[in-house]
Amino acid sequence: MKAIAVIPGEKNSARLLDVPVPDIDDNEVLVRSVRAGVCSTDREVHKGLYGTAPSGEDYLILGHESFGVVEFVGRNVSGFKKGQYVVRTVRRPCSACDNCSSGASDVCSTGNFSESGIKELHGCMAEYFKDDPNYLIPVPAELADLSVLLEPMSVVEKVLRQSYLIQRRLEWKPKNAMIIGAGPIGLLQAMLLVENGMTVNVVARSPPFNLKSKLVASIGARYISTSYQSLDEAVRDIGHLDLIVEASGNSTMAFAAMENLENNGVLCLTSITGGKMETVVASDKINLDLVLGNKVVFGTVNANIVDYQNGLRSLEKFANRWPDVLPAMFTRRVPLQQYAFALENFSEDIKTTIEIS
Ligand code: BGC
Repeated sequence: MKAIAVIPGEKNSARLLDVPVPDIDDNEVLVRSVRAGVCSTDREVHKGLYGTAPSGEDYLILGHESFGVVEFVGRNVSGFKKGQYVVRTVRRPCSACDNCSSGASDVCSTGNFSESGIKELHGCMAEYFKDDPNYLIPVPAELADLSVLLEPMSVVEKVLRQSYLIQRRLEWKPKNAMIIGAGPIGLLQAMLLVENGMTVNVVARSPPFNLKSKLVASIGARYISTSYQSLDEAVRDIGHLDLIVEASGNSTMAFAAMENLENNGVLCLTSITGGKMETVVASDKINLDLVLGNKVVFGTVNANIVDYQNGLRSLEKFANRWPDVLPAMFTRRVPLQQYAFALENFSEDIKTTIEIS
């Protein structure tokens, strides 16, 4: 079968390889890949900044935003049949920590987890992949066309779930939110916060009157471009911020955001920044404000199975409430053979997919 594979650590190493279709045992499921989403993590792995091959192998099949159809079911597996649409979760547990053993590998303590298409486990940018059924989420046919968004959706569900969990430390009824970044994570997060009754401001670099600002406006949120005003000016305009979600991919924004959080507010950091950028920050002021304002800054990565389940319900709600928005996020659909074009990054792009079968 054809698969897009990289040599981890090597710059721009993605190639289309011919590799064997995975063998499945009686407890596994073989899935035919329909499409895979491309995100900035895939591009970082391709650039050699991130990612590890499975043990004993020198290449890694890319891809963690999956959507496929069950092709073959191992004889001990129940609950799946040929033709069922599925999305695969990303992370697999380590063998040593309490969080992983209780089904929460998204908060693994040892760091010895594996991640499909990223760390020590082959991904879904191949004609087939196999998995343990516990890591496959069945998807209803009505959501088939949108389901490649379920993985990023699970990440934004976790942001909100964890924010509420953390804020049980005090009375918290978030009304005003800011999201930094208008990529797929920023836009899905904006939809989720609007759906949860918040006033949502999306801050991004691109000047307004582009597709991203149009989509932000069409869900009833406000788009603010940092081409015309700084983050500080934007925040002065917006006022009290109960929740800030940083999803711009730029680590300096994470520190800028810390200076703009209101008392008791929460800043959630989601950008995976594999580079080596350094920046000078107003550490005394930031520290003092965080302390005196009882503010929280937390990082979140990956997602729990409950976030995938919540994500499916949210995608359905979004599709009913804003029927044109999710389809409009698919800005480039690229055939498998043109994988190199899919891995390039264009600033106005939202979600690129690789169409596999
Ligand atoms: C994925 C996560 C993963 C993270 C770190 C992100 O792009 O969405 O599932 O945990 O990269 O590898």
